Amino acid sequence: MRKILVINGPNLNLLGKREVDVYGSSSLEEINQKLCTTFPKVEFSFHQSNNESEITSIIHTLDSYDGMIINPGALSHYSLKLMDAMRSFDSFIIEVHLSNIFKRDDFRHTMLTAKAAHMVICGSGADVYETAVSALIKKKEKQ
Ligand code: DQA
Repeated sequence: MRKILVINGPNLNLLGKREVDVYGSSSLEEINQKLCTTFPKVEFSFHQSNNESEITSIIHTLDSYDGMIINPGALSHYSLKLMDAMRSFDSFIIEVHLSNIFKRDDFRHTMLTAKAAHMVICGSGADVYETAVSALIKKKEKQ
């Protein structure tokens, strides 16, 4: 059994309704449900917040996890606070983005929080979450 923390930042609660041409038609609930079905042996702890401080506090949790998958949304591009919180997390971190941020606006090319991640996966829509879980499992098997 693996314990994985999954965090989604601001506006990701609107997945499936917001800029569907960019982010796809799956809701966050559907994405999380699919992860549970695809990886039945993994114990997921899902969180979504539009609040930077709340996300920071979730990362400060004393529970121990085998890894974290985080889509910080726009916080990726400017949040030193979140980057520092991620640096305090003592397990493997994969940052994900549904869109290929490098094909988008220049301001999205700054990836502050990615400096605190061990791996970044972006550009394949909702599949990035599944790819990240597989990568985390593989990483743990090699340890
Ligand atoms: C995003 C990319 C960010 O630039 C944007 O602010 C988001 C979503 C993505 O998943 O592609 O909210 O993190």
